[in-house]
Amino acid sequence: MDHLRSTAALLFLLALQFQSVLSQPETKPLSSHVERLALIRFRSSLGLRSKDWPIKADPCLIWRGIDCRDGTVVGINISGFKRTRLGGQNSQFAVDALARLTHLESFDASFFALPGQIPDWLGYKLGNLHVLDLHSCSIVGAIPPSLGELLSLSVLDLSQNLLSGSIPPSIGNLANLQWLSISENMLSSSIPNQIGNLASLVELDLSSNHLGSLLPLELNGLRSLRKMVLRNNELMGALPVDIFSALTQLELVDFSQNYFEGKVPYYGHSRASLGANCLQQFGKQRTLVECASFYASKGLPFDNFGNPGATDPPRRTRKWTIILAAVLAVVALLLLFPLLLLLLLCACRCGSSPQLEDGRVDHIPDPIYGHLVEYFLTSRVWDEHLRATSFCC
Ligand SMILES: *[C@@H]1O[C@H](CO)[C@@H](O)[C@H](O)[C@H]1NC(C)=O
Repeated sequence: MDHLRSTAALLFLLALQFQSVLSQPETKPLSSHVERLALIRFRSSLGLRSKDWPIKADPCLIWRGIDCRDGTVVGINISGFKRTRLGGQNSQFAVDALARLTHLESFDASFFALPGQIPDWLGYKLGNLHVLDLHSCSIVGAIPPSLGELLSLSVLDLSQNLLSGSIPPSIGNLANLQWLSISENMLSSSIPNQIGNLASLVELDLSSNHLGSLLPLELNGLRSLRKMVLRNNELMGALPVDIFSALTQLELVDFSQNYFEGKVPYYGHSRASLGANCLQQFGKQRTLVECASFYASKGLPFDNFGNPGATDPPRRTRKWTIILAAVLAVVALLLLFPLLLLLLLCACRCGSSPQLEDGRVDHIPDPIYGHLVEYFLTSRVWDEHLRATSFCC
């Protein structure tokens, strides 16, 4: 009986919670003084306008893009906001005040210039974030590995910035991530294997970077993936068969403008864009020169579209030519040496042999060498040579 009552109470509480989540808009004013101060600091460090965030009004009730629940800030959306003139002059990634908003679940600053690095603390302090949208914010520098601490994250958009360096493997910790885009940056190095741990991921977009590696086989762990866009990178090697057979939800694959080589595996029912690669028997690929020189620049052999005469990197080709020539020369010497020796011996005999004049040599046992020697001995060249050098024993 007690059990039943407590279960009913729990259900009632849950229902209440749900209602408060769903009820929009918020009617409670901001309750925390700490959060109010943090918002005001945030407002001035970014130079937001009074028009959007009037200083005297309540943030939860009046400010544009502020989302509250029970008088606590849970969302900030400054997407496309304009700055005051002063704020525009001194624009930085100045969001330190956010560290005080510990209940923040969503931060959208897309199309708002934050020219600086993503601060390291962000991953440690905003553990409740579900949505982090920094699309087109002029962010520079590396992606801090601490973002891998944002375990509640379901949307991470860092696309269209100036991010460089590599994708931190810690991104693979984000078990709830459903949407990941880091497209249109300057990322290099490889796609970390750990990306394959993102079993909830529905969309992955790493297009238009400088990622140059093989496709990690671990990507076959992306079991919820519907869209995989890796267009316009420097990815190479064969397309692993397993990836397509394991990803049964896949609807769209865009691997175009890379340097994948080899045969195209069966890619199920998904739509696949594979143009401008180095793939075998597939339409609209790069030229042989482009592919061969790309692979040569990486010190790797290219399969020459599966035709005979796969290209090796040039330096190794030169080395092998030299070795081959040396071997051939040694073999030729070994073959010629006994022949010369034999000729010399015959020449010695010929001096005392009366048969030389009529050109018959009948005491050489080996028929092949015999004929050869006969030919030489009867020819005038040999006679003259013998006479010129007066070579006889
Ligand atoms: C932020 O606001 C823009 C419109 O100004 C909207 O398109 C976008 O979806 C909002 N972001 C979030 C996370 O709600």
